[in-house]
Amino acid sequence: MPDKTSNKASVAVIGAGVCGLGIAWRLAQAGRAVEVFDKGEAGRGATWAAAGMLASGVETEPGEQALLALNLAARRLWPDFVRDLEAASGIDLGYRDEGTLVVAPTRDDAEQLRFTYEFQRGLGLDLAWLNGAGARAREPHLRAGIAGAVYSAADHQVDNRQLALALKTAFLRAGGILHEHCEVTGLDMEAGAVRGLWVGEERHRAETVVLAAGPWTGALDWLPAAARAPVRPVKGQVLTLGMDPLAPLLTHVLWAPKIYLVPRRDGRLLVGATVEEKGFDETLTAGGVYELLDAAWRPLPAIEELPILETCVGFRPTSRDDAPILGASALPGLILATGHHRNGILLAPVTAEAMARLILDGETLPEARGFGPERFARRKLAAAV
Ligand code: FAD
Ligand code: GLY
Repeated sequence: MPDKTSNKASVAVIGAGVCGLGIAWRLAQAGRAVEVFDKGEAGRGATWAAAGMLASGVETEPGEQALLALNLAARRLWPDFVRDLEAASGIDLGYRDEGTLVVAPTRDDAEQLRFTYEFQRGLGLDLAWLNGAGARAREPHLRAGIAGAVYSAADHQVDNRQLALALKTAFLRAGGILHEHCEVTGLDMEAGAVRGLWVGEERHRAETVVLAAGPWTGALDWLPAAARAPVRPVKGQVLTLGMDPLAPLLTHVLWAPKIYLVPRRDGRLLVGATVEEKGFDETLTAGGVYELLDAAWRPLPAIEELPILETCVGFRPTSRDDAPILGASALPGLILATGHHRNGILLAPVTAEAMARLILDGETLPEARGFGPERFARRKLAAAV
């Protein structure tokens, strides 16, 4: 087979979503030669479909205490990350810090919400309980009779599509090389270690390869068994409605039973999202759209007048324990940065920082330490004993 080595890149990244691009940008900034490969257009995977919520607080569920530490590390990094990335790219990320409201339309919903609120407060999260009037004082278009609400001042949002564009721009400005429409078809191995990758017949050498293929990670049949990661796609259908940007229906991110709504400054209102175990099924369904509109209309009836601007189907990269997979694989030279499930946008800065440090200094961030791929092998061993 002819060796079409194009470049002696020091680092090659598979996947140009927020995770791959974030790591690549940080490494390029640090002076490393970095090439990123994507089978499609950069930023068009899970990153495109997301809502951009930075929900480090209100999405926390029982059993996610370790993940919370990572989420909070990401929350701390966000303001500086926005400043650095906007300066490096010249692109506005649409970062909004009005906070998030979780509303309970009925008394039953309020009891459930009170339970979640007490649990999250017990973890030290700074949340405030509001009555219906308090919620409507913040969002006057909410239906009358809201039974209760929780306000999180620290759960912000970003425009994830602008984020991807900014990361791509900053990466290119820092000297990185991006190969779009270049599907990686194999790893280049030498004496049991990864020395680069293959795009068809073309070999690209690299000292380190980062696998950041999002929801496709578990479907890469060319990956040696030792490096396989348990990641599957979890489908989400999302609608975008159009508000008048000068008189928007919402300013906070809003959660209600089975739904979230995310208002953008330009008037777009994202309504998401279904959670479906359907593999890579890209169908937009009547049931999905009905479920979203019905659940959104209950707290915010005025949406019925809004035009539908866009429909979208995306896939969350979901690992077996719903937490990201961040660290060195069992194959020397291969790093995994995948499995970010519902929080990959929130975790983008901490993923970039942790993986760049691992590659540059051999040490990851303390908060990322428990999230290496070896945890799945340990569990398999423990189950076998
Ligand atoms: P991706 O963005 O999917 O990037 C992976 C890239 O790898 C793709 O571009 C793909 O083309 C490329 N690739 C795959 N295989 C190959 C190959 N063989 N060769 C070359 N390239 C390859 N997270 C939040 O934090 N907040 C939210 O509000 C939020 N909302 C969401 C709503 C929905 C409906 C969905 C689906 C997800 C949501 N998420 C949210 C999750 C978030 O979108 C993901 O966790 C995050 O985008 C993952 O980024 P990534 O870079 O790992 O994956
Ligand atoms: N984090 C929102 C979602 O995954 O739908």
